[in-house]
Amino acid sequence: IERTFSMIKPDATKRNLTGKITAHLEEAGLRVVASKRVHMSLRDAQAFYAEHSERPFFGELTEFMSSGPTVVQVLEGENAIAKNREVMGATNPAEADAGTIRKEYALSLGENSVHGSDAPETAAREIAFWFAERDIAG
Ligand code: GTP
Ligand code: MG
Repeated sequence: IERTFSMIKPDATKRNLTGKITAHLEEAGLRVVASKRVHMSLRDAQAFYAEHSERPFFGELTEFMSSGPTVVQVLEGENAIAKNREVMGATNPAEADAGTIRKEYALSLGENSVHGSDAPETAAREIAFWFAERDIAG
């Protein structure tokens, strides 16, 4: 059984979509084994997205991610990392498949409603960034 890290971004919490997005994840067979709502600081966002620090959109991304509350979650399931990426849909909602979270809810490439880890190493790092092991109940 695999774990991944998921985040419901400020554009989605603002529109009160936490439940609807979580329902997509649960319907795909992913189990929410940890969850909390956090309004991250700019410094948190910069540390969380450090791998993107050289990208031209880094400033825009970190300002957006610290602009309002997010819901950070640990998801568990068979092939949770790949399954979550599938349910999320393409990064750019214009390219996302029908039925995916981003197709349904995302506003733009930047305000794309959700984040999900892309590999086992990033999942481990991102989970540890927000949660202690005792915060997770599988
Ligand atoms: P994540 O699950 O959030 O990591 O998405 P991803 O893996 O599909 O995309 P990637 O890691 O390449 O980029 C991380 C995030 O940066 C994306 O989810 C977007 O919200 C944001 N992003 C990517 N490209 C752009 C861009 O050109 N402009 C802006 N403003 N944001 C971008
Ligand atoms: Mg990514």
